[in-house]
Amino acid sequence: MIRLLSPREAQAMREAGRAAASTLAWVGSQLRSGMSTAHIDRLVREDTKRRGGTPSQLGYHGFPAAVCTSRNEVVCHGIPHPQEKLGEGDIINIDVTTKLNGYHGDTSQTFVIGGASPDAEHVVRVAREARDLGVRAVKPGARLGDIGAVIQEFAEREGCSVVRDLGGHGIGRDMHQEPHVPHFGRSGTGLRLKAGMAITIEPMVNLGSAAVRQLEDGWTIVTADGRLSAQFEHTVLVTDSGHEVTTRAP
Ligand code: MF3
Ligand code: CO
Ligand code: CO
Repeated sequence: MIRLLSPREAQAMREAGRAAASTLAWVGSQLRSGMSTAHIDRLVREDTKRRGGTPSQLGYHGFPAAVCTSRNEVVCHGIPHPQEKLGEGDIINIDVTTKLNGYHGDTSQTFVIGGASPDAEHVVRVAREARDLGVRAVKPGARLGDIGAVIQEFAEREGCSVVRDLGGHGIGRDMHQEPHVPHFGRSGTGLRLKAGMAITIEPMVNLGSAAVRQLEDGWTIVTADGRLSAQFEHTVLVTDSGHEVTTRAP
C-alpha cells in the first residue's frame, strides 16, 4: 500500500528534508584529510540534534551509527569507524537521514577530498547528474520505469554502470516504505506516480561493473571489482504540477 501525504504532512516532509539537507551541507563543509569517519558520525549526531531532529538510521534494523559513510569502492551503508581516515584523493558519500516531527528527510552527496583523479571526478559527476535527471522526471502520471530509464541511459552513455541490487524508496512516516524505486528500467513501465507520493532518487553509479557484494559486517556494500562508486540522493514530493525536492541544499 502506498501512502499519500496530506498537505500538512507534505509540510512536515519539507521541514525534515530541510533539516537533513542542512546537516549534510554543514558536515560536508567540515571534511578534511585526516578526519575519521567516526568523527563524521559525531558531527551528524550533534547537528541533527541542534536542529531538533533524530538520526533515522541509528538503530535501524540494528545499524550501529547515525550516518552512512561510504568511501571509494564502498557503494553504500558504510559504517563509520575511528580507524578509517579520509585521505587526499578519496571520494566519500555521506548519507544523512533525519526524523523531524514524525517524518523523514533522506539525502546524500559524494564529496571529493583534495584533488581527485579524473576517474574519481568522472564517476562523481555522472552520479550527481544521473540523480538530477531522475529527479526531473518526477511528476504525476510519470512511471517508475521512466525515471529508471533516464538514469540508466545517461550513466551507461557516460561509460559507467548503475547498481541494480539496491534502489530508492518511498519515504514519509517511515524512512523506507513502498514503493521500491529502481535506477534502471524501461520507460513506459512500472508504477504510475501520483500527487502526494514521496520517493527518494539515489542512484549508485560504478566506474566498472554493476556487481556488488556485502561485507561480513552485514551492512557495507562494495563493488565486486573494487573500482570506485559514487551516489547522490534527494527526497522528492510528487506535486500536482510536477515535483518538489525537500532536501535541496540550503
Ligand atoms: N539513508 C539510507 C538510504 O538512502 C538508509 C540506509 S539504512 C542504514 O536509504 F541502516 F544503513 F542506515
Ligand atoms: Co534513501
Ligand atoms: Co539515504
